[in-house]
Amino acid sequence: MSSTLSPIDFESSRQWAESIVSRLTLDEKILLIGGKDAFFTHPVERLGLTSVFFSDASQGVHLLEEFKGIRYEKRLERSTQFPCMAMLAATWNRQLAMAYSGAIGEECRAAGIPVLLGPGMNIYRHAQCGRNFEYLGEDPFLAAEMVRSYVKGLQSKGVIATLKHFLANNTDYFRRRSDSLVDERAVREIYTPAFRAGIEAGARAVMTSYNLFAGEWCGQSREVIHGLLRSELGFQWLVMTDWWSVYDGVKVIQSGQDLEMPAHDATADARRLVEEGLVSEKDLDRMVLSQLATFHSMGSYDFRKDPECLEKFEDHGAVALQAAREGVVLLKNRDALLPLSSTLSRVLLTGSGLDAPVVGGGSAKVEGWGHVSLRDAMLKVWGDALCVVEHPDEAGLREADAVVFNVVTEDSEGWDRPFDLSPEVESAVRRAVRLNPRTVVLINSGSGINTSGWTGDAGAILFTWYHGQNGATAVAEILSGAVCPSGKLPVSIDKRFEDSPGSGYLPEGESLYSGWQDELEKTQPIHPLRYEEGIFVGYRWYEHKGIDVQFPFGHGLSFTEFEYSDLRLERGKEAHEVKLRVSVRNCGTCAGAEVVQVYVADPESELERPKKELKGFQKVMLHPGERKSVDIVLDRSAFAYWHPERRDWYVEPGIFRVLVGSSSVDIRLEGTITLD
Ligand code: BGC
Repeated sequence: MSSTLSPIDFESSRQWAESIVSRLTLDEKILLIGGKDAFFTHPVERLGLTSVFFSDASQGVHLLEEFKGIRYEKRLERSTQFPCMAMLAATWNRQLAMAYSGAIGEECRAAGIPVLLGPGMNIYRHAQCGRNFEYLGEDPFLAAEMVRSYVKGLQSKGVIATLKHFLANNTDYFRRRSDSLVDERAVREIYTPAFRAGIEAGARAVMTSYNLFAGEWCGQSREVIHGLLRSELGFQWLVMTDWWSVYDGVKVIQSGQDLEMPAHDATADARRLVEEGLVSEKDLDRMVLSQLATFHSMGSYDFRKDPECLEKFEDHGAVALQAAREGVVLLKNRDALLPLSSTLSRVLLTGSGLDAPVVGGGSAKVEGWGHVSLRDAMLKVWGDALCVVEHPDEAGLREADAVVFNVVTEDSEGWDRPFDLSPEVESAVRRAVRLNPRTVVLINSGSGINTSGWTGDAGAILFTWYHGQNGATAVAEILSGAVCPSGKLPVSIDKRFEDSPGSGYLPEGESLYSGWQDELEKTQPIHPLRYEEGIFVGYRWYEHKGIDVQFPFGHGLSFTEFEYSDLRLERGKEAHEVKLRVSVRNCGTCAGAEVVQVYVADPESELERPKKELKGFQKVMLHPGERKSVDIVLDRSAFAYWHPERRDWYVEPGIFRVLVGSSSVDIRLEGTITLD
């Protein structure tokens, strides 16, 4: 079976896998439950099982040349560096998410990569998590919708999507030593909806996480894998561990886990475990069966390089550019400072990352090709009027027609990074905004930073994320008005880190470190990480506690204005289904896109619920003066919450408020609906 664009169904794949498993020896089965050369599975040539290659992931293809002394075949000359996943979430554009992952899928085909180790989808619980850039923000509904599109786009190219990291892996601070203690409602309402969506979209693989969950490492937890992932969320395909994240062979084999990566470690003496009756050969059969069925269903055993896909790199660059255009978020724009005229006589560009790509680090890192620097992108617009100064003096700052200050944070897998900028950068930004009110600050980062010391004085602020190889072009287009910004924050940005629901996550007396600290990690005690906020994560928390944030979830300004009218709500055919229609008009002077956001509130409820929750959205493009009707269907899940006593999703009869607006705090219209 060659790599296939029409996957084989579960039952047929299982039948095929059963026929192979019945012919495998015990030694072959043992071989198959652990990885080989860090990113491969073991082959069983006599039965036609080739070695399957896995590649990192999420924001493009991470080209691997060397890893821990192993050298890898160069599968591709180059791969496209897309904007980071958090920026993709900021587009709120499902079609674009599908184009983004479809392009990545084509690069996997070009390289002969049958399995991508992404998408990442852990929820943003606080701004310091070093991997937030790899994930899709703080809201489970938004993340779920983007994951659904991502999985469909990627797998439509015949490439396996790996949903990661299951479960409650929301910090990279000594990630193997933190024990996430999360109540069952938060698990269902906050931490698993994105996984559920990926599973519903047909994702063929899930990767467990480094952390412990309720006292057991996720990769060997029966509660997590067999209980939650398989029995409750209904996942039927391949489960793999994260790299070096399990410790007890018996537990791994009996947990519902299928594959230990990158090698046999905990499962190294599986033969002895079988001989001593601590696990049974049937347990191994289950693991192998799952792996075989998965690879068979997607044609992974015979996945060949597809040279036609090598011709598509220009298109992929265009997708990367479009995702950046739609993902830049205009946070502030005092007196319409932006767009800056292209005829200004002196634009001063300063800060860091003016030439090098701005990108998150770790396994998700992608080098890209034909990278456009911010300096070059701005030179194209302002030519000789652009003046790049590393350490501008007072007069230089004061006299510029506009100052663009580029701020870059160093986010990476392997550690968490501070919410505050370094004292030097902080004071340089404050100085610039104080000296020149026409200062635009660009934030290149994977999550929120502390802007409270300079937001008031800044003329404009753009959240530009890690915007990928062509993203600087998008930034220059937005600065100059060639593109109208339409990104919306997929996170809330706090005024102070202490305001965040996850802020108390460091063990008492400990502080952040940077750089990979694997050896030090081994010496650390396991620290309990109590998710005391429960379901109140992100805006749910700030609204519940009445805490003012610097920039709210869903916020993002435009160069034009949108007017909302004629909200209509009616019951649908299905139980608890509501159909919503609203009219949106572009009443400004330039073309632009608006993200219509729909929040649901349950004013009276047996159990406490968030003040409101995102349950629908639609991005619409409108020319000046144009009006469009937006239709959104809210299904049962828009009204249900997890009821711990019923151990099920529950829609409590009564009145629900439906709030429609341009951000979580900019609600334009409201209606009610009664459900029974
Ligand atoms: C990361 C995974 C990644 C794996 C393989 C781990 O360190 O947590 O996300 O896929 O390495 O590179």
